[in-house]
Amino acid sequence: MSSELEKSRASIIKDVKLDLISSTAEADNELKRAQLARTFISDTITAPTKEMYAYGVLATLGDDVYHEPSTHALEAHVAKITGKEAGLFVSSGTMSNQIGLRTQLMQPPYTILCDHRAHIYKYEAGGAAFHSGAHVTAIVPQNGHHLTLDDIKGNVIYGPDVHFAPTEVIALENTLNGTIFPQEEITAISEFARSKGIKMHLDGARIWHVAAETGTSLKVLCEPFDSVSLCFSKGLGAPVGSILVGSQEFITRARRIRKLFGGGMRQTGLLAGCAAYALSNNFPLLPRVHALARKLEQGLKDIGVTILSPAETCMIFYDAPSIGTTYDEIAERALKLPEPLFLGGSRVVTHIQTTEAAVDDFLKLIADIAEEKKKAGFVKPQVNGDGKYHDVYVRRTH
Ligand SMILES: Cc1ncc(COP(=O)(O)O)c(C=O)c1O
Repeated sequence: MSSELEKSRASIIKDVKLDLISSTAEADNELKRAQLARTFISDTITAPTKEMYAYGVLATLGDDVYHEPSTHALEAHVAKITGKEAGLFVSSGTMSNQIGLRTQLMQPPYTILCDHRAHIYKYEAGGAAFHSGAHVTAIVPQNGHHLTLDDIKGNVIYGPDVHFAPTEVIALENTLNGTIFPQEEITAISEFARSKGIKMHLDGARIWHVAAETGTSLKVLCEPFDSVSLCFSKGLGAPVGSILVGSQEFITRARRIRKLFGGGMRQTGLLAGCAAYALSNNFPLLPRVHALARKLEQGLKDIGVTILSPAETCMIFYDAPSIGTTYDEIAERALKLPEPLFLGGSRVVTHIQTTEAAVDDFLKLIADIAEEKKKAGFVKPQVNGDGKYHDVYVRRTH
């Protein structure tokens, strides 16, 4: 080999090299963990623990586009507990929903019917239109909480009138903004959908929370749906990953769409291992998470804060103007505390790494601000008393 070639190789090797573990990495990560325990912005921010990673590295080393044993074991397990024939591990909840919809939707023109707050409608970058060419009917629930069969019947499209794109999928979300969709209503919607040949998809990113809170099995919760997307990287605290479940025939087609979307991953055993660890060790922690959210709600009510959306599972939405302040003011003050708190907009999310102290400090901060505003002459206006739906301000990072 010429010395010229050797020299240029050595130079490229030098350029390519990267050491991203800083000398302060361990301390930085400890600080990060402490901050996560005081972050109410989302449950997606939960960090994998050393124990989770230690379990994950023991998983198999296959290539998931061909056959990855640990990943297949995870898919088979989640399919089993949700009462479906097969599962498909994917990188994110968005990908899982979008592959699910793309696989369900066969021949345009068609419409997807969903709640107007649905993740697939508001927060997936217009994916239903982009990937599936789907029109979306987004409905405001009449009761302010969840869609009912009446809402669906009033908006569903079928029949011979050529002006309309028929409803091909009804996509529900459970939990939605942390609230639990009553199962009887889902069953009624599903029976109606089936009678009209309409398919049912569930964005069950946080369906784990419904099972943990209500004691209803995942199988029962998922039964009314042809396809369900479940996430490991939110309430369950895994670093990456979601799963789509459905019939064998559906998942076989979805696997091809996953490849088409560029979502065929390779050595996913580590990720499947982390997801399995999350199922075994973190799922049982959810009741505590919900109790923290309820404590937050009660504390806010006691201070006189209006609750926009109740703590049915791991989130609440509150109204800062109801005590004469703004979300920005609260967030700024929270950052200046001796031990800062990290807040988004009206949404407050508890998660498996939230500490009780963080909840207490948040309530103390809100109480202090409310007191200051009162002293400065703020009087709470009489609004939002009609029991109807009020939109929420979500400065959302997921
Ligand atoms: C209800 C719901 N569905 C889907 C998603 C999308 O998940 P991801 O961020 O993994 O794409 C989210 C994200 O938080 C979500 O809250």
